[in-house]
Amino acid sequence: MSPAPTSWWRVRRDALLSTFGALDCAYIYDPQVVTAQAQRLLAMRSLSRVFYAIKANPHPEILRTLAALGLGFECVSRAEVERVLESVPGIPAGRLLFTPNFAPRAEYRFALAQGITVTIDNLYVLRAWREDFHGREILLRLDTGHAHGHHEKVRTAGDQSKFGVPPAEFAELAEAVAGAGATVVGLHAHGGSGSSTDIAAWLDTARVLGSVAAEFPRATALNLGGGLGVPERPGDEAIDLGGFDAALAAFRATHPALQLWLEPGRFLVAEAGVLLARVTQTKGKGDIHYVGVATGMNSLIRPALYGAWHEIVNLTRLDEPADRRTTVVGPICESGDTLGADRWLPRCEEGDVLLVANAGAYGHAMASHYNLRPPAAELTMPA
Ligand code: LLP
Repeated sequence: MSPAPTSWWRVRRDALLSTFGALDCAYIYDPQVVTAQAQRLLAMRSLSRVFYAIKANPHPEILRTLAALGLGFECVSRAEVERVLESVPGIPAGRLLFTPNFAPRAEYRFALAQGITVTIDNLYVLRAWREDFHGREILLRLDTGHAHGHHEKVRTAGDQSKFGVPPAEFAELAEAVAGAGATVVGLHAHGGSGSSTDIAAWLDTARVLGSVAAEFPRATALNLGGGLGVPERPGDEAIDLGGFDAALAAFRATHPALQLWLEPGRFLVAEAGVLLARVTQTKGKGDIHYVGVATGMNSLIRPALYGAWHEIVNLTRLDEPADRRTTVVGPICESGDTLGADRWLPRCEEGDVLLVANAGAYGHAMASHYNLRPPAAELTMPA
């Protein structure tokens, strides 16, 4: 295994601190890292199209960066569609996908009126609102039954998840589509998020979609969804994109009429973003040494919600020995407001800047105003 590359924020520490200036807390994104990740996917020859799942981070500069590279965008709400249209003026509707789940009818109508391809994940929609889909080209989202993901809350296949047309209803698909007068141009599945490096699971998804596609002669695309994981803890392995590409290419060779699409969120933006927050206070309590910082679960809820692990370093004292076992907490009135427990950090002092890594995906996008504390603002690194 090759050694993990040095994180950009170590290399660009001085520029990062000067971008941060005298703030208390901020998310900072490096568009160059987004570009580099996108180029890795664009180099995969088995993929015909890559859509960015903007739910991971809808910051306009990130959208423009990815648009300039030719990616499309996958949106799950009317507001996400509007964000893309505003951030990338003139973007053709054909570069957007709308993949709602239990959204109100008006949102489907909005997307259809814009000429955006809608992905349907419930036969109810096709039957109860059939006139909306007459003459439309649609994608169908299937529940392949193959769930994966870093936490049960982000596994999106199987009976315990609300997504996708269940396998028991596959036999009814063609009739429901015909009844609405729609044309299926592709099939979609998304089994979960931040999953392992398990290439076999992707192939299982492709095979299920490929078999159902045989029923829809105009279906030319299989959208395998998102879910590509990124390394989090030291020693985590990154997905072998070369092996992934080869496996997908082998699948394509047996299904020459079908394109493969991917719609990742996390992979494109997670590593590009960091959350910086200044130390406010320290406290010893029992065996635990607490370091408080200026923002917490109101900015980054992933540790509290999923037990997610984000690397934390003291950016002010990057070169000092990390010899103190520390629990890093925010100022929110909940015991769950912990950004990281039992971390080895140098002795931290009020005003030091702590860095929470891998925070570019599902960080600010899931932030709240809990306790009426505004979440960290967002900044981007200079080129
Ligand atoms: N496509 C669909 C239909 C999705 O539902 C999702 C994510 C994606 C693509 C992008 O998945 P990604 O490549 O980012 O794994 N808040 C959680 C993740 C929730 C993902 C929801 N759907 C987290 O912080 O880990």
